[in-house]
Amino acid sequence: MSGNRALRRAFRIEDLRALARRRLPRGVFDLFDGGAEDELTLADNRAAFQRVRLRPKVLVDVSRADASTQLLGGPSALPMAIAPTGAVGFGWPHGEVALARAAQAFGIPFALSTSATSSIERIAAAVPGHRLWFQAYILKDRDFTMKLVERARAAGFEGLMITVDLPVGGKRERDFRNDFSIPFRWTPRNLRDFALRPAWVARQFASGLPVMENLIGLSAASTSTQAIASSVGRNYDPSFDWDALRRLRDAWAGKFIVKGIVRGDDAERAARLGCDAIVVSNHGGRQLDGGVATLDAMPEVIDAVGSRASVLVDGGVRRGSDVVKALAMGAAGVLVGRATLYGACAAGEAGAVRALEILSDELLRTMRLCGIRSTAEIGPDLIFRGPLGAQRESSFTG
Ligand code: FNR
Repeated sequence: MSGNRALRRAFRIEDLRALARRRLPRGVFDLFDGGAEDELTLADNRAAFQRVRLRPKVLVDVSRADASTQLLGGPSALPMAIAPTGAVGFGWPHGEVALARAAQAFGIPFALSTSATSSIERIAAAVPGHRLWFQAYILKDRDFTMKLVERARAAGFEGLMITVDLPVGGKRERDFRNDFSIPFRWTPRNLRDFALRPAWVARQFASGLPVMENLIGLSAASTSTQAIASSVGRNYDPSFDWDALRRLRDAWAGKFIVKGIVRGDDAERAARLGCDAIVVSNHGGRQLDGGVATLDAMPEVIDAVGSRASVLVDGGVRRGSDVVKALAMGAAGVLVGRATLYGACAAGEAGAVRALEILSDELLRTMRLCGIRSTAEIGPDLIFRGPLGAQRESSFTG
């Protein structure tokens, strides 16, 4: 099926995932799709959304509905932002540019990963004036980290996002099975994998193999995307702690976001430290397997933080109704990771745009079906707390 026709036939994020699976070599698809170990947390992130049921209001004039909101004190056309994801160029050349442009087209913030294959400056130039957040991992080379932060400031990024759920890399076994391991080896398995996807191979060779542009200068090994899968966490500093977080907070004048908290006590501490936002996240199930689903963790975090910081959530958002559920349970917004990634890896910018079309259409449709005209009207009364919801009744008092 031709690129555009296949995209038009994609009605669900799941269809974009299927398209990505058909177009990417297996090892590359699994690098994006997979989680850690038994993928319990990966599955549970999704299941937590599926356990929630809504209580729609009827006979409301919903001839107009608007999903715009304020995220971190700035306007966003939808209550969502694109999550930072590394190595996207392995799926589509400079896939981060595709994602950033799609974010700009939809008027939502874009977060760029430290381990992106498009540099801070390349992204700033691709979407001038757009709301950008830089996601920093804390590298063992702290000076290099601070230089990255300074580059983000100089390039006009409004937010600094510190990811705290990766003191060491999660055990991502699909990567091991697919021979995405250290040192990267050209094995019969991955050669056969690549040979089965000639269009992908042609695109990759035409554009030059991806490198982790932000990390150029750190060390040759750490900029090779070929080594990223199994080298996750290798350059990161496992001694990074609250004091170091405070120093970063003090060094950054813009919006400060901490990503990867799932406990009330940690959230409380982050809020006390002056963080503007907390992202309830478990890295899309790619780090600690067996960790709590993010939607299940969110009420505890919201209770602990109160009005001191915004609470965003990510992990498992695949439907517009998931966004309504998250907001009804108190989130200020969601981040989407794989949803837009599947689109970008399958078809570049057009695919990322298709993912956002699907999500925004479903979101507005769900709002109207619930008798809701604006995000401000989305409240806890929308959540059904009968037998199906009983599981969360004890923790969710909103
Ligand atoms: C990620 N995530 C991530 N997070 C981060 O802070 N820095 C990063 O470099 C990456 N890289 C990354 C790569 C890939 C392929 C995935 C799928 C995820 C985690 C990401 O920001 C987000 O937390 C999850 O993707 C959210 O879950 P969903 O939406 O993918 O289910």
